[in-house]
Amino acid sequence: MQDDKNCQWRIAARPEGNVKPSDFSYTEEPVPSPGDGEFLAKTLYLGLAPVMRMYMAGTARTGDSQLNIGDIIHGRGTAVIIESNHPDYAVGEVVQGQMGWQTYKISAASSQEKFFKCTDYNLPWSLCAGVLGMTGLSAWAGMIDIGKPQAGERVVISGAAGGVGSMVVQMAKLYGCEVIGIAGGESKCNFIKELGCDHTIDYKHDDVAECIAELCPNGIDLYFDNVGGEILSACLENLAMHARIVLCGSISEYTRDTPFGLENYTRLRATNSSMTGFFVYNHIHQWYQAMDQIAGWIQDEKIRPVQDMIEGFENMPAALARLYDGSNVGVQCCQVREY
Ligand SMILES: NC(=O)c1ccc[n+]([C@@H]2O[C@H](COP(=O)([O-])OP(=O)(O)OC[C@H]3O[C@@H](n4cnc5c(N)ncnc54)[C@H](OP(=O)(O)O)[C@@H]3O)[C@@H](O)[C@H]2O)c1
Repeated sequence: MQDDKNCQWRIAARPEGNVKPSDFSYTEEPVPSPGDGEFLAKTLYLGLAPVMRMYMAGTARTGDSQLNIGDIIHGRGTAVIIESNHPDYAVGEVVQGQMGWQTYKISAASSQEKFFKCTDYNLPWSLCAGVLGMTGLSAWAGMIDIGKPQAGERVVISGAAGGVGSMVVQMAKLYGCEVIGIAGGESKCNFIKELGCDHTIDYKHDDVAECIAELCPNGIDLYFDNVGGEILSACLENLAMHARIVLCGSISEYTRDTPFGLENYTRLRATNSSMTGFFVYNHIHQWYQAMDQIAGWIQDEKIRPVQDMIEGFENMPAALARLYDGSNVGVQCCQVREY
């Protein structure tokens, strides 16, 4: 990466299966200058999210615009303002927003880009790319605002070693729940035990439905779903009365050619249960409330921030691939520049 250039990653091809190097193209442009009402931000850290592959594939149905071949890939990150003609943003301020996969960005802080000024909690700024960024808001909105965990409840969390999952596990423990975490492989299962899981299920080796039935003889009270597919189906078979399912994500579906096709959603009926989806952009009005609470938990050492930081903007494509091959532990981020 050249510091005096705006380096960018663009879509070269629609990915099939996991992303591969030929799906990306690298470009460099002169660093742009801000016009009236604009600022120039220098990228510090970028967060990686499974939805980025969907942007590349043209299958994302989120609040961000559809991308074409040749476009800069969408991505949120932490940046510092280095020039400003914007009345609300001053040079030196650290912000969090839609930077895209590039090392500088001109912005007028449109509502679409959702820029937030990062609060200085005396914590590393790098956390603003993940745990104190959209990943943190997703965990908080899905678990605290929608899931409403109650002490003593039996909570199952899939994708438990991932970005959202590793936070949700710790939130559930904070609220006094009994937590069953589902993750791929022995070392991830050991890791989520360290985070507080009472029981773990290795979905790559264990029979998930059998394990859940054994661990939840009276059923699941709350299931936080990050993966969809077979695991969601197994949870639906094991619901307690008035159970809640929070639909956060369905990563197991994102690379399938045909949808899994949930056949047992009617299990909700027998137990008067509910399944509630949410989209994090519908919760941005809760941004500062969520960030203050998460930062407080981190400062009080009640929540351990787990970020998987890869160094170097050149490694962004490899970092995205890690989400789909299961290499990441915690929120996958990229350090573009240390700050
Ligand atoms: N609703 C919203 O607004 C919102 C916002 C943010 C994220 N999300 C969704 O929430 C989920 C978690 O997001 P995240 O950013 O924290 O990512 P993440 O959990 O860190 O995603 C990567 C992890 O997913 C697991 N995974 C990959 N392929 C899988 C498969 N086929 N089956 C089961 N697990 C698989 C892998 O863990 P293992 O090694 O354990 O397999 C991998 O490490 C994603 O589905 C994402 O799309 C939704």
